[in-house]
Amino acid sequence: MTLRLSSAGESHGPALVAIVTGLPAGLELDRDSVDTDLARRQAGYGRSPRQQIEQDRVDVLAGLRHGRTLGTPLALVVWNRDHKNWTWGMAPWPPEGHPSGKGTKAVTLPRPGHADLAGVQKFGHDDVRNALERASARHTAVHVAAGAVAKALLATIGITVAGSTVDEAGLRERIDEARKERDTVGGVVEVRATGVPPGLGSYATKEDRLDARLAAALMGIQAVKGVEIGEGFALASLRGSEAHDEIATDRRRTSNRAGGIEAGVSNGEEIVVRAAMKPLPTLMKPLGSVDLVTGEAAAALVERSDVAAVEALAVVAEAAVAWELAVAAKEKFGGDAVADFVEAHRAYAARIQWH
Ligand SMILES: Cc1cc2nc3c(=O)[nH]c(=O)nc-3n(C[C@H](O)[C@H](O)[C@H](O)COP(=O)(O)O)c2cc1C
Repeated sequence: MTLRLSSAGESHGPALVAIVTGLPAGLELDRDSVDTDLARRQAGYGRSPRQQIEQDRVDVLAGLRHGRTLGTPLALVVWNRDHKNWTWGMAPWPPEGHPSGKGTKAVTLPRPGHADLAGVQKFGHDDVRNALERASARHTAVHVAAGAVAKALLATIGITVAGSTVDEAGLRERIDEARKERDTVGGVVEVRATGVPPGLGSYATKEDRLDARLAAALMGIQAVKGVEIGEGFALASLRGSEAHDEIATDRRRTSNRAGGIEAGVSNGEEIVVRAAMKPLPTLMKPLGSVDLVTGEAAAALVERSDVAAVEALAVVAEAAVAWELAVAAKEKFGGDAVADFVEAHRAYAARIQWH
């Protein structure tokens, strides 16, 4: 069964939910590991005070018994603690009583760089909030929870996945300066996966290509505007003799400029991918916009917001890469029980003499 993930949830709605199908039965999950990843996502430098309100924890509503998957759909929930301040404004059903709390007034000042204007145009909303609540990166929390589940599956066959910011001296100074000037910044993150055997993904169709799947997963994260695999853009200015990774007699490579993927297939080297994040669009010193009610020029919406979320992106990107690798591994090794998945991996590694 194919591993699939779907999610729902608004930023200030009651909860974020994810349903994972296709997980083999008998996979041991550890609540603390999931919660640790949720806390890592919230911890980065430059984030807004919302993170102190939330302190995310995962709840599981289905698919798990006594810490082991049942092979049935796994339902994950991360509650939005901030919802208590938005119970009228974000009520799923028509609210009773007088408007109170946050979100009671329609937002009509779209922010450049956010979903606001295209969102109301596309869906016919008259309140920008109806677009921004889902476009917000808040729901990456439940994707991080699903990524932790994917990492548990990958760990059974010796694969580890880790994200970090790309070492940039002065990132925190850049964030401090931007905060003082009521501005925002972006940055670059890198995800590395070790222990990935040759043969995940395929060159058979463009949809099968592992590089295409990883790029789509990373571009699927809010504010990511560029992705590179291995040396990526730098390869364009090298000669072929400098760019490719020679094959040694043990079939490993003497270098890894390809970032562990050739022809859309993992080649057994470390998978290395990078994602570039644009500066966040909500500015405390807002850019020019239009008031959608009066049609007059006006400053864009100002609302509580991060100055930077690049450290958080490293965790979200790690989860996205882990998820795609888990999908590709499940596709290759199958298994209704986790023991079948592990055994198929062992037999394959023995056939290709891969250690
Ligand atoms: C972890 C994370 C946190 C983010 N936090 C904010 C934020 O606080 N304020 C903001 O304006 N944008 C934030 N963003 C970016 C917006 O969600 C994103 O720019 C917006 O949805 C428009 O999508 P696009 O940038 O992909 O075009 C965040 C993105 C990520 C990945």
